[in-house]
Amino acid sequence: MKKFYVTTPIYYVNDVAHIGHAYTTIITDTIARYERLRGKDVFFLTGTDEHGQKIEEAAKARGRSTQEYADEVSGKFKALWDDFGISYDKYIRTTDAEHKAGVQKAFDVMYEKGDIYKDEYEGHYCVSCETFFTETQLVGGEQCPDCGKEVRVVKEESYFFRLSNYQDKLLKWYEENEKAILPKSRKNEVKRFVEGGLTDLSITRTSFDWGVKLPEKMNDPKHVVYVWLDALMNYATALGFGTDDKNMDYFPADYHLIGKDILRFHAIFWPSFLMSLDLPLPKHVAAHGWWTRDGAKMSKSKGNVIDPKEVAEAYGLDNFRYFMLREVPFGQDGDFAQKALMDRINSDLGNDLGNLLNRIIGMSGKYFDSKISSQYVNEYFKADMAQVDEIIGSLDGFAKELQLNRYLEELWKVLAIGNKKIEEVQPWTKMKENGENEVSGLLGLIANILAKASLALSPIMPEKTKELAKALNIEIDTVNFTKLVENKELLEDFTIEKIPPLFPRIEEPLMKEAVIEEETKPEEPKDPQITFDDFLKVVTKVGVVVSAEEVPKSKKLLLLQVDIGEAKPRQVVAGIKEFYAPADLINTQVCLVSNLKPAKLMGNLSEGMVLAAKDENGLKLVRPEKDAVIGTVIS
Ligand code: MSP
Repeated sequence: MKKFYVTTPIYYVNDVAHIGHAYTTIITDTIARYERLRGKDVFFLTGTDEHGQKIEEAAKARGRSTQEYADEVSGKFKALWDDFGISYDKYIRTTDAEHKAGVQKAFDVMYEKGDIYKDEYEGHYCVSCETFFTETQLVGGEQCPDCGKEVRVVKEESYFFRLSNYQDKLLKWYEENEKAILPKSRKNEVKRFVEGGLTDLSITRTSFDWGVKLPEKMNDPKHVVYVWLDALMNYATALGFGTDDKNMDYFPADYHLIGKDILRFHAIFWPSFLMSLDLPLPKHVAAHGWWTRDGAKMSKSKGNVIDPKEVAEAYGLDNFRYFMLREVPFGQDGDFAQKALMDRINSDLGNDLGNLLNRIIGMSGKYFDSKISSQYVNEYFKADMAQVDEIIGSLDGFAKELQLNRYLEELWKVLAIGNKKIEEVQPWTKMKENGENEVSGLLGLIANILAKASLALSPIMPEKTKELAKALNIEIDTVNFTKLVENKELLEDFTIEKIPPLFPRIEEPLMKEAVIEEETKPEEPKDPQITFDDFLKVVTKVGVVVSAEEVPKSKKLLLLQVDIGEAKPRQVVAGIKEFYAPADLINTQVCLVSNLKPAKLMGNLSEGMVLAAKDENGLKLVRPEKDAVIGTVIS
């Protein structure tokens, strides 16, 4: 059996799943189901990307251990995909031991090959995108060109991958493989980037440790592998690379499905790593566009993120899948609006598809005791049947290029043939004019249209098409796909089953806009929230009071000298005179905000602020529970 390998990106565990993630996964699931139906031996991989500074900081900001936090979010993604019936074969986590071993193996092979060397990295890093940037790439000198967030200046020892060695080889790969990058329009963008020159890539970090350690023989424990090398390797380690190689016969991927934001990593870094590892390159890297909501970019802070589960619960999972794939051409951005979703359900699914079934259920019940036969199809409707088979036969071309909106558009043409034929033939009059055989042929034609269409539609709407197929007395499986779609055969005679309407009309939006917003918005904070980065801006250190005296003429102020381990003590003017006698303060520890801009209070320079808790009973200085080393930063 021919093998077929398809992957989603692995999702970061710093966020909840939204429709953008669901979109990537649903396209991938569709492709996996499509190829299985055509008899391929499919391996469908998905999972979570759990290492890196972003995750470490997200866990810290929530006061959680990183592993525990990653377990929880990874579990939520998995539960969502299970709930959605996503047909993945493996769910990989980058914290899996086998994955880590595979990453170390890759590092080792690249190192032995001479593709890795040690140096110092000095530049800018965007934690949100986990990406290094040169000064010239930044926007306004300090913002990430991809997400707009402020970058950090990084200067650390690092191992580098000789990406520059692969520039020509990459260009050759793009050149020789017309469809290596889909949609084709995106290829030029990548090509131009590579032609602009590739610099070697920093592939280890030392300033945090939530990541895969280097192979032991490197004897360099302070380094962890850069999260993108770690993450990209999942596509190989999931098949056993670096451990048992068990499923490496599926490699390379037929399709890596990704969003356009991560194309560069997949179309430049990943093939270079593979060339270094002497592994074959993917057949297609396919980048889809982004989803917005009612025209606006979705973000947690705006509270307009759409929970895919909520949409599926309100409108039906298969309807949601259909909408996402039908609404947007692959590669382009799409907008989620309930009105558009309702229109698709009522018009495409309800009128064109659901009604066609209802009509033959009704007519066959009335005229033929619910029996449907293919006997007269070719006698009366040969050309129509041939046209239907031709259209359905052309769908594979669209599927291969992931143009699922075009695939569906074409598929709907066969439904239009069926609907149009009923109007043309006017079976209710034909029956009165002894046209029984023609009407039987018409119902046979439509039953065949619906059977072939439900097979072709099943990868997109697996559940609804099962119901549809049941009414037509067939199973959705490879045998029927081969028979009815590939070999263009006709249905055997059967008795049609009456089933409730598949797509009941939706008159009103089923999700209250306000409710979605309330539910996805983080709870209204009692205090204005700050980010962890904001918190890090305040430097608080442990200090000891070495001298304390009253500020003349002030009822409230004391003048303190606080040693925080610098060359000379900091002078601090503190409003604590009513609560502390100067002598009681000497040699006691305090917590001092040490990077507050100096200010003059009653003529005295104050170079910091001591922390205190003031309630109705008075004021208490905040101190370490036990004496700490002077100068220790409080975090
Ligand atoms: N962890 C990396 C991928 C590593 S793959 C080796 C990552 N994760 S992510 O969780 O941020 O994004 C995963 C996928 O979701 C990407 O393909 C991204 O494009 C997609 N989307 C995230 N937001 C999206 C929209 N609003 N719309 C459509 N897809 C978007 O990147």
